[in-house]
Amino acid sequence: MVEAQTEQFLGVQSSSIGYGSGGALSNTLFKSSLIPWKLVARHELAKFEPAVNSNSGVSIKVITIIQTGKDNSTSYKPLDGELDESYNLTISTNGDARITAVSAVGILHALETFTQLFYLHSSGNGLYTNMAPVAISDAPKFAHRGMNLDVARNWYPVQDIKRTIDALAMNKFNRMHIHITDSQSWPIEIPALPELAAKGAYQTGLSYSPKDIQDIQIYGILRGIEIFLEFDMPGHTTAISLAYPNLIAAANAHPWDTYCGDEVNTNTYLLDPTVKSSDKAVIGPLIQKLVDRNHAALRKNGLTPIVWEEMLLVWNLTLGSDVIVQAWQSDENVALITGQGHKVLAGNYNSWYLDCGKGQWLDFDNGASFKQFYPFNDYCSPFKNWRLVYAYDPLAGVPAAEQHLVLGGEVHMWSEQTDPVNLDGAVWPRASAAGEVLWSGRQDASGQNRSQITASPRLAEMRERMVLRGIQAGPVQMAFQAHRVVSSQNLKLLRTPQFPNDARSRLEDVGACNLRHGRKFIRPMGGIVETVLEHSSPLNLAVAIVAVLAIIWNTTWLAEEIKVRRLGGHTRRAQTYLPFQLDLIGRAIHGTINHRNLQTWTHWFSTPKGPNYTVEARPLGRRLIFTADPENIKTILATQFTDYGKGKPFHEEWKHFLGDSIFTTDLDQWHDSRQLIRPQFIKDRVSDLGIFEEHIQILMKQMVKEGTTSDGKQGKPFDISEMLFRYTLDAATHFLLGRSVGNLENHEVAFAEAFGEVQKWQNIIARSGPMNKLVPRKQFFKHLKTLNEFVEPFIDEALALSPEELATKSKSDEGYTFLHALAAFTRDRKVLRDQLVAVLLAGRDTTASTLSWTFYEISQRPKIVEKLREEIIQHVGLERAPTYNDLKNMKYLQNVMHETLRLYPSVPFNVRLALKDTTLPRGGGPSGLDPIGIPKDTPIGYSTIIMQRRPDLTPDSLTFSPERWETWQPKPWQYIPFNGGPRICIGQQFALTEMGYTLVRLMQRFERVESDMLRRDGGNPTLKAEIVLQPGDGVFVSFYDRKGGEMSEK
Ligand code: HEM
Repeated sequence: MVEAQTEQFLGVQSSSIGYGSGGALSNTLFKSSLIPWKLVARHELAKFEPAVNSNSGVSIKVITIIQTGKDNSTSYKPLDGELDESYNLTISTNGDARITAVSAVGILHALETFTQLFYLHSSGNGLYTNMAPVAISDAPKFAHRGMNLDVARNWYPVQDIKRTIDALAMNKFNRMHIHITDSQSWPIEIPALPELAAKGAYQTGLSYSPKDIQDIQIYGILRGIEIFLEFDMPGHTTAISLAYPNLIAAANAHPWDTYCGDEVNTNTYLLDPTVKSSDKAVIGPLIQKLVDRNHAALRKNGLTPIVWEEMLLVWNLTLGSDVIVQAWQSDENVALITGQGHKVLAGNYNSWYLDCGKGQWLDFDNGASFKQFYPFNDYCSPFKNWRLVYAYDPLAGVPAAEQHLVLGGEVHMWSEQTDPVNLDGAVWPRASAAGEVLWSGRQDASGQNRSQITASPRLAEMRERMVLRGIQAGPVQMAFQAHRVVSSQNLKLLRTPQFPNDARSRLEDVGACNLRHGRKFIRPMGGIVETVLEHSSPLNLAVAIVAVLAIIWNTTWLAEEIKVRRLGGHTRRAQTYLPFQLDLIGRAIHGTINHRNLQTWTHWFSTPKGPNYTVEARPLGRRLIFTADPENIKTILATQFTDYGKGKPFHEEWKHFLGDSIFTTDLDQWHDSRQLIRPQFIKDRVSDLGIFEEHIQILMKQMVKEGTTSDGKQGKPFDISEMLFRYTLDAATHFLLGRSVGNLENHEVAFAEAFGEVQKWQNIIARSGPMNKLVPRKQFFKHLKTLNEFVEPFIDEALALSPEELATKSKSDEGYTFLHALAAFTRDRKVLRDQLVAVLLAGRDTTASTLSWTFYEISQRPKIVEKLREEIIQHVGLERAPTYNDLKNMKYLQNVMHETLRLYPSVPFNVRLALKDTTLPRGGGPSGLDPIGIPKDTPIGYSTIIMQRRPDLTPDSLTFSPERWETWQPKPWQYIPFNGGPRICIGQQFALTEMGYTLVRLMQRFERVESDMLRRDGGNPTLKAEIVLQPGDGVFVSFYDRKGGEMSEK
């Protein structure tokens, strides 16, 4: 009996949705029901089933279905959350079966559950359930529960897509995302552009006509699955070139790895005659235009745009508030997206990419590449087993206040190595595990993560039911494991089962037993110690203590060793020669004191056979990893971001100086800081160049003064580096606090001295590691007090303004500072103090040192100075101050800065701590290509300076050559002076703007810059790597005014 509220749409009536027609229901129940032999103890099915002809149960004669709401056209293409999918299902003791739901789709879900309550009798004579009486009240946790199927890498006939829709409906998904085009093929027929499919499909006939698409969509609607198509762009579009070669840049361009790849490769635009640039600053606005245009068209047609996360997080595009962002790289990115107020679909590839673990899909010829890629794992290996899929939480790391923005998620089936033959087994039952997470949530009602122990039998049973309905899902477990004993009282309608003796319960019992043995074992040990104390001489006692320490040492080592091996394995050992690897510690101290860290690290990576860029050591028994391998650095900073962090020891060491700021915290606490600070670095704020101009004028005055000899001649060498540090302090305090400390003109500023001294002591504390407690702190705290006393009045002033006054100030822009912006969000003075000091530290020394290195290099290369000036003259002449856009358009200027940051990245050596047991992907095993086991609390030192100078990654890597950037692009993760991943430098644009502006203004004013460094350092600069990398001997140069003759104070 069906009471449904219906309305027509696309010729579809809601009463025909899913089982609504009744025939489908009985088909499923009677023809595809499960004989549960695997679910009961071996050979005991007969005990479980009701006896044939038994009268002890109750029969269901009628199913009452009531739809309480009314479907309308939006019910068939609802936005996420628009459709009520909940349902109630009861079967009473007298056999009344009743379903109520607001929508037809809710009824569909109820019927799906209903069929899954029943088993087929092995005699073939009817159905029974052991779950009645039952009352189920059910609703989905997430509004978007999807699967993405890529039909472009391999093509699927419509019937395979329909079968997948059937399986999705069984598992209560509600979205199917079809990745319909890619670089490999264009299988969708667009009537207005028939060539696209005619030439872009793999074969005539292997394409989808409009009718096919409509057919698939209606099939989906009838099963509660909304189908949407993805036309991926601007990457993934090479197939278009088969029909329209002029539309696609760099199609199949060689060398392949320079121009191609999966995601947008900026090098391709170098070959586009309308762009001719690989600069993100040029390409970004073009992508913005493309996206704006496409989204406008979609909206006009009543559709909601979806973008991949890169559009927001990499390209920083401005997106409409309706746009949904699809995240795939990390949980942190989900949080970054919600943090910007956007709706998001989760689907971290580390858990929900079903294609992973099948190995590389490219072939490698014998030789170097064969060796490099052996044993040919793919980028996202290993295979994501169902337990991992089930363990994924789409809300992980998202603050509670933003969780409503997570609409749900999708599992992804990319088809490089999947086609119709292995589709079902590749997707199911793993997608079922994701389906449960999306329907019910990762946590149960008590807030506990759902257990795989209880999920496993459910999933195994579901798999059996899917197979019966024509889905070739893989097995979840062996039949042996699946067997369990279930209660077999009653017959047609049995009670909810208990599974007291199932295999898993028994396993738990065994575990508990072992634990009890362990406890017993401890007691006699106490006895032994007491006996030793009573009967031993002091010598014996000393020997015993040493022996016990050795046992503890070895036991700790052993416990760690077991863990390392379980997680992955070891990488090569750094070369050391002394016991306890004391020489490694000695070298580290010597390297730091003598500014020879680069040489020290290079030594650790060296072997007689050439460098190993990931090594480990165990000085004094603590395992450390050093790496300059881009794959490992990417893992630490991005792909396994939550596994690594700054860690508690770092916070302890830095807390007095940087408090709980963005630099010293991890996870949620770090995320909150990032949210607070990020908006202050939007383009509008960063492109305000007035502050720099004010200070550059003072800088030039000082340069003229310092660069003039006593007899008034120009060209006297002076240390430009020291002056640049004072300049950036003035600019930074102006930007952050609204008032400069005026250190360019007054060298005796107490704050400047205190800031320098605090950094000096902080560096000593940080480098002393576990011995830092021995570092005297009197000077440190004295200078810290001066620093705090300087900052506090500014905070008082900002807090004296009411929120309304702060808001008005922000609109007028007059005197509005970074501090005001922060105060508009928080009135917590500690938060304000900590973040201010952190950004001051980050923003001041990094730009001063990079500018210093630029002058160090270009003052020895007149041709570069000449070329730079030519570009400046061409764009802005010798007088006009450049705008933000001028700076971005000066390619050579940008290349000079890139090249400086390549050879002299401001943070050349960095460290992260493993926050949990985890891995690094490369460096292990005999080939050095296997994963490495990383137990919790292992520190990983990583060096960007070594990586960016590696001769195998960058040609002629030690030469300073801005020209290289005209034809060369580093591969992803091989050049990261600003770091990468979620913790990428927030001030990157601010820094490039400040540095670019300073260089342009100085090069307009001075036509010659000559180095005086050769006679001071012989061409070997001292790389002083304290908190940032700076020239250890200063940068002594002579500047010559473009007018010649005497230096004038223009
Ligand atoms: C040449 C100039 C700069 C370079 C090379 C640089 C480099 C870096 C690097 C490598 C990090 C990551 C540190 C880590 O996580 O261990 C970082 C973080 C950061 N930088 Fe910069 N930076 C520069 C300029 C600036 C400027 C001018 C500002 C602000 C005015 C700034 C603000 C920040 C902030 C707030 C972070 C912390 C980000 C986070 O942890 O989420 N940086 N920077």
